[in-house]
Amino acid sequence: MSAAEAAPEPRGVIVTGGGTGIGRATARAFAARGDRVLIVGRTPATLDATAEGHPGIHVLTADLTTPDAPRTVIRAALETFGRVDVLVNNAATGGFASLAATEPQAARAQFEGNLLAPLLLTRQALDALAADGGGTVLNIGSAGALGRRAWPENGAYGAAKAGLDFLTRTWAVELAPRGVRVLGLAPGVIDTGIGERSGMTPQAYAGFLAGIATRVPAGRVGRPDDIAWWAVQLTDPRAAYATGAVLAVDGGLSLT
Ligand SMILES: NC(=O)c1ccc[n+]([C@@H]2O[C@H](COP(=O)([O-])OP(=O)(O)OC[C@H]3O[C@@H](n4cnc5c(N)ncnc54)[C@H](OP(=O)(O)O)[C@@H]3O)[C@@H](O)[C@H]2O)c1
Repeated sequence: MSAAEAAPEPRGVIVTGGGTGIGRATARAFAARGDRVLIVGRTPATLDATAEGHPGIHVLTADLTTPDAPRTVIRAALETFGRVDVLVNNAATGGFASLAATEPQAARAQFEGNLLAPLLLTRQALDALAADGGGTVLNIGSAGALGRRAWPENGAYGAAKAGLDFLTRTWAVELAPRGVRVLGLAPGVIDTGIGERSGMTPQAYAGFLAGIATRVPAGRVGRPDDIAWWAVQLTDPRAAYATGAVLAVDGGLSLT
């Protein structure tokens, strides 16, 4: 086997929200590469289901919006595999509401869970990420919040995701001297059940997906693996010259 074909060195990877959807597929994609993965979420059963049959995946139950969570997560990663090479800030909750219908607590939950929690976790991870020659932060945003798009009925969620993209660019510049890369992935509509977890009925979510599929240039909605593959590519050491970029993986929907 040549050096180029040698198995990649196992890395320490954290995937928040690894119990379901994109996070589950991403955790398994890293584990398939040979990495050791810590998945974090609030529901032990879904985390355990992700890890079942994947000995490289370790589970931590934690609510990322609680004050102790950043320290707990990074300590658990260091105790479990001694290093943090990749942090995937994937956990988020949806929540559809117009401005007039937005409850204060729902807006707070959007900004705390989808923007502040990744900021504080990344801050806590910095020394570990910089320690072994430079790690990578991957922020999972949303194609719906890219550029100058508006998103009626989804303002707080979209604002948190647009803010996360801003943090991606800003951290890329701040952290480059420490050898840490920061990238964003902006999924389009991916069939993960997130609609139902955001308050839609199963019928409404199925109708939403079917309607979107007719508008996507690629002809279908996305699958969690469509995003997971890119998460592994963007954080690969051979992608070393890319930082600060946010990649839309949406079948072309945001171009229409
Ligand atoms: N699916 C799409 O169409 C789509 C499109 C664009 C962007 N995205 C983004 O892609 C990412 C993954 O979405 P998904 O569709 O896979 O959604 P999902 O299946 O609902 O996954 C979100 C995960 O985050 C966890 N989570 C939420 N709040 C948490 C908290 N406070 N502490 C710890 N864990 C928490 C949830 O687990 P618990 O509830 O058990 O904690 C869940 O496993 C999100 O950032 C989402 O905004 C999704």
